[in-house]
Amino acid sequence: MNADQEGESTTVDWQQYENEARQAISAAPTAAELDEARVRYLGRKSELAQGLRGVRDREAGMLLNGIRERLEAAVEERAAALEREERAHLDELLDVTLPGERLPRGHLHLLTQICREVEDIFLGLGYEIVDSREVETVWHNFDALNQPLTHPSRSHLDTFYIDDNTLLRAHTSTGQIRTMEARQPPIYIATLGRCYRRDTPSPRSTPVFHQVEALAVDRGITLADLKGTLIHFFRALFGEDREVRVRTSYFPFTEPSVEFDVTCFLCGGEGCAFCKHTGWFEMGGAGVVDPAVFENVGYDPKAWSGFAWGLGLDRITAQRHGIPDIRMFWENDLRVLEQF
Ligand code: DAH
Repeated sequence: MNADQEGESTTVDWQQYENEARQAISAAPTAAELDEARVRYLGRKSELAQGLRGVRDREAGMLLNGIRERLEAAVEERAAALEREERAHLDELLDVTLPGERLPRGHLHLLTQICREVEDIFLGLGYEIVDSREVETVWHNFDALNQPLTHPSRSHLDTFYIDDNTLLRAHTSTGQIRTMEARQPPIYIATLGRCYRRDTPSPRSTPVFHQVEALAVDRGITLADLKGTLIHFFRALFGEDREVRVRTSYFPFTEPSVEFDVTCFLCGGEGCAFCKHTGWFEMGGAGVVDPAVFENVGYDPKAWSGFAWGLGLDRITAQRHGIPDIRMFWENDLRVLEQF
């Protein structure tokens, strides 16, 4: 056994062994193949390891240890080179000039877009946008607006009450009262937002809907100012060709009161199926602020006059975009919402 081993170690041409090993190490194309070469030439079962085990003299020991050290250094060097290559390859894979992945981007709901548009129109007129509240007192929603105790909208069947004195506002007219209570004229404000009524959902009404309310209080304001403002507003919203007409009506908080219509934006007033052949769309209510309302907020009705108007935004938005049923605003169907 001993003789055998000794015999073997003497037959190995160590110069050739080192050359072969260096060749295998420096040519290893991958880390796995480098490891194979390392095991083969430096591993426990390699000829070199066996030779080292059988070393008897100093010279042979120095020779073989020298080979081992040089081969180990060669393996380390090759491993570092392979790692550098791999990193360079990764850098190639990462092309920072490629366009990024597109993230789907949301957008504002159509009703919010309309609210913003309406706000812009008022801001252009020099009005201030007032954020009023949705939970209101009976005083602000009815009493201060001169609404008689017998008015049907006060019923629990029509309005959402939280308790006897607190309700969800049924219109944005509450914003008029809150603003006038808080400050003195001149006042030019618009207030927009959600309103609540106990209506059964249908294509034309939902229990939650949106209104915009405008109020101007100054000296010598007349119905003519109201009409001019309405014409400007509807031309900005529906196009320059629109005409506005006012019809007499009744609201407890205005005297005189009117309702206003705008010419159909499809036929321009000629009459078509869209406007039921009338040429007009009903828009909302308005009037000259009733002196009783001024008294309720502590203004002198002889010194000040004003107009107010309000309208529902959901229905006119649906009309403008040809949406047949306003419940679609609440259904969150992306096929509808993504169109706007
Ligand atoms: N508040 C009324 C409604 O909800 C709309 C309205 C009518 C508002 C006349 C006004 C107004 O400011 O003067 O139907």
